[in-house]
Amino acid sequence: PAVSLIGVPTDIGAGARGAGLGPEALRIAGLAEALAARGVDVRDCGNLDGPRNPWTPPEQGYRHLDEVVEWNRVLMDATYAELQDGRLPIMLGGDHCLGIGSITAVARWCREQGRDLRVLWLDAHSDFNTSEVTPSGNVHGMPVACLCGLGPDALTRLGGDSPAICPQQVRQIGIRSVDQEEKRLIKQHKVDVYDMRYIDEAGMKRAVEAALEGIDGNTHLHVSFDVDFLDPSIAPGVGTTVPGGVNYREAQLVMEMIADTGRMGSLDIVELNPLLDNRNATAVLAVDLVESLFGKSTLMRD
Ligand code: ARG
Ligand code: MN
Ligand code: MN
Ligand code: MN
Repeated sequence: PAVSLIGVPTDIGAGARGAGLGPEALRIAGLAEALAARGVDVRDCGNLDGPRNPWTPPEQGYRHLDEVVEWNRVLMDATYAELQDGRLPIMLGGDHCLGIGSITAVARWCREQGRDLRVLWLDAHSDFNTSEVTPSGNVHGMPVACLCGLGPDALTRLGGDSPAICPQQVRQIGIRSVDQEEKRLIKQHKVDVYDMRYIDEAGMKRAVEAALEGIDGNTHLHVSFDVDFLDPSIAPGVGTTVPGGVNYREAQLVMEMIADTGRMGSLDIVELNPLLDNRNATAVLAVDLVESLFGKSTLMRD
């Protein structure tokens, strides 16, 4: 396979500064080298550029909306260009608002190619807020809603048509922090959520099997990996830690099961904030997990 690393150094949609340093933290943790060692052809496209973070309070329910739109426009074009080039784009975030640009591009490309898109959202949060119900105004809490057509035109119509995707294409795993009104929206739009209680009771294997059910050779799997999916004890380098997250072995299992499908066509790695980290441990763990996404296993399978 051929992958393209796209650095998206933004914390424009987050509630803490520092996720803009995520791309460099992932490079320093050896992401490109780890992939190359697996025989993957790696192109590092460097970092995209976008507006600085004005760090202002919300206006009409959004913080930095114009800047969020601009970053996502740039990312949408970059993602689409790499897909057109036959490559698997890996977005090095950056906060999770970037999922709007990346997935809008992926959805357009899948439409043109006649492929079915499935979005796997690995996260502590559902990121399904709207300006009416957001507790923070931070757009990193809104990308799934925007992609499904709920949000400002500038974001929901980023790729022209709205919605970019429908809720039935989304599967969420690891969820354990959903705001009250956000929960109502998730239920109203019937998003398929495998929350931590489901994982506690049924196990990660069943959760991933259910989330991947129905995919086939025509499916493009987009994995949006918010590192706060992981338990803060193993991944402290994020702005919005939530206790009770996914442990190391569960995380490996998810990545291995995704690799087994052979269908991953694009990947976001988001919310990594090295300012809050412990000796870049979260980036190192993220690289370890990405290796597993690309088929590396120390187990007895291969
Ligand atoms: N639900 C909270 C909010 O809307 C937190 C969202 C956190 N999202 C994230 N991608 N880390 O502000
Ligand atoms: Mn999150
Ligand atoms: Mn998120
Ligand atoms: Mn590994």
